[in-house]
Amino acid sequence: MLTSQPLPLIWKTPATVRAWRRHQTESIGFVPTMGNLHLGHASLIERARSENAIVVVSIFVNPLQFAPTEDLDRYPQSFDADRELCQTLGVDGIFVPMPQALGLTPQAGFDKNQTGVMPRESMTQVMCGRSRPGHFTGVTTIVTKLLNIVQPDRVYFGQKDAQQLAIVRAMLRDLNSPVEICPCPIIREASGLAYSSRNQYLNDSDRQRAAVLFQALQQAAALVTAGVRDGSTILQAVRSHCATVTELDLDYVELVDPVSLLPIECLDRPALLALAARLGTTRLIDNIVLQTRPPIIAIDGPAGAGKSTVTRAIADRLGFLYLDTGAMYRAVTWWVMDQGIALEDEAAIATLVTRCDLDMQPQADGGCTVTLNGTDITQAIRTPEVTANVSTVAAQKAVREFLVKQQQAFGDRGGLVAEGRDMGTCVFPAAEVKIFLTATPAERARRRSQDLIAQGYPVDLAQLEAEIVDRDRQDSTREIAPLRQADDAIELVTDGMTIEAVIDRIISYVQGDILP
Ligand code: PAF
Repeated sequence: MLTSQPLPLIWKTPATVRAWRRHQTESIGFVPTMGNLHLGHASLIERARSENAIVVVSIFVNPLQFAPTEDLDRYPQSFDADRELCQTLGVDGIFVPMPQALGLTPQAGFDKNQTGVMPRESMTQVMCGRSRPGHFTGVTTIVTKLLNIVQPDRVYFGQKDAQQLAIVRAMLRDLNSPVEICPCPIIREASGLAYSSRNQYLNDSDRQRAAVLFQALQQAAALVTAGVRDGSTILQAVRSHCATVTELDLDYVELVDPVSLLPIECLDRPALLALAARLGTTRLIDNIVLQTRPPIIAIDGPAGAGKSTVTRAIADRLGFLYLDTGAMYRAVTWWVMDQGIALEDEAAIATLVTRCDLDMQPQADGGCTVTLNGTDITQAIRTPEVTANVSTVAAQKAVREFLVKQQQAFGDRGGLVAEGRDMGTCVFPAAEVKIFLTATPAERARRRSQDLIAQGYPVDLAQLEAEIVDRDRQDSTREIAPLRQADDAIELVTDGMTIEAVIDRIISYVQGDILP
């Protein structure tokens, strides 16, 4: 294959990776694999490429995660093709150690009692953990070793191995690891079969049969859309669907919380529907996250972090409502003016808002149509007069209380993106995806200076940065709606990221349907 990308570096020992690592100052994205790379791996590498200055892939068939009865000896390996794919995708370095180099052979002093990393027991007693005892301890131990060697900023895992992803995420949190885990969506063949190195064990008719797994999951999603909430009904439907292929031996189908992996009996929140099955000697796994309504995405963060651009683009891409809270305050202001009420007459305005029936509908460009008591006021709220008065009206307690209730009512339908200072903490504390979008003051000053220079204004970078620091302080200490990061929000520091990369990252959190 012809490629203009430079050859990736190849390291075979931890010492050579470390010698290289010592000189790196830029962000490193790491994709651990067992090789035999396919389009699923390629998607992880591409994502790492878009989010980091440097990308490292490891290829290591980890003996610690195979039971003696499993396919360690015949696990497919294809180093030349893997290296070529890595080169095409712009990978900077490949770590490809022998078990000896990682101290995993008796000659290298391996002892089965040596230190390992024990995952949370509650997470290994379900799903694949039942039939693969010790497997996840093998995974967490090797992942810890690899992270210690490569020392990346971010590590990329596929949602296909949902249990592995949840266990590694919990491990990183439990061990206070500084590494950020980035879940990536499942990539499927045209038939719906999820890409896996083990698919290569399947012949053509097996592949056709294997497609039933995803069909069964989709059928379960259709039941949820039709209103079914009872977990056992959903599990039974999946079992019956899989039973139509007699050669398929279903190992398990389970409904669990995507983060804790605890069983879910009733779908009152997002649930991971996961299964494993054998076709002959090949073990296949697959999953989807079931949602009872489209998710809410709450994006908070300091001024100048690019929230509104990102929010609008996400709404546009997902076909969600961009809950333009600024437009809501403008709508009330327009009405106050239209009714001839004095802006300072708080009592009259408080009464007026009780008669306000505000609706917002998504538009094709990510914006929204605003109607008040049936009249379309999308354009009317954009006049200079409304702009001049909106802050006086927005500062009134009754207006704010009314509009927060309205915003929450929009949330009941789901499928919306909202940005602000307290969306994830106050307005939508149960939002499925919470993002705290930020950038260092120096980076925000740099971005602002570029805008000002483009408009022909002189720029004092140090002063801009000082103003940003001061604005952050004011925003986080203000009495009404202070800026606060929700405990369960994903902090996204966008220094060095393009807007497109930020949007893609947030969308993949949504499509992975889980919080990292
Ligand atoms: O998912 C895999 O390929 C493996 O479990 C991993 C994460 C590379 C650890 O060996």
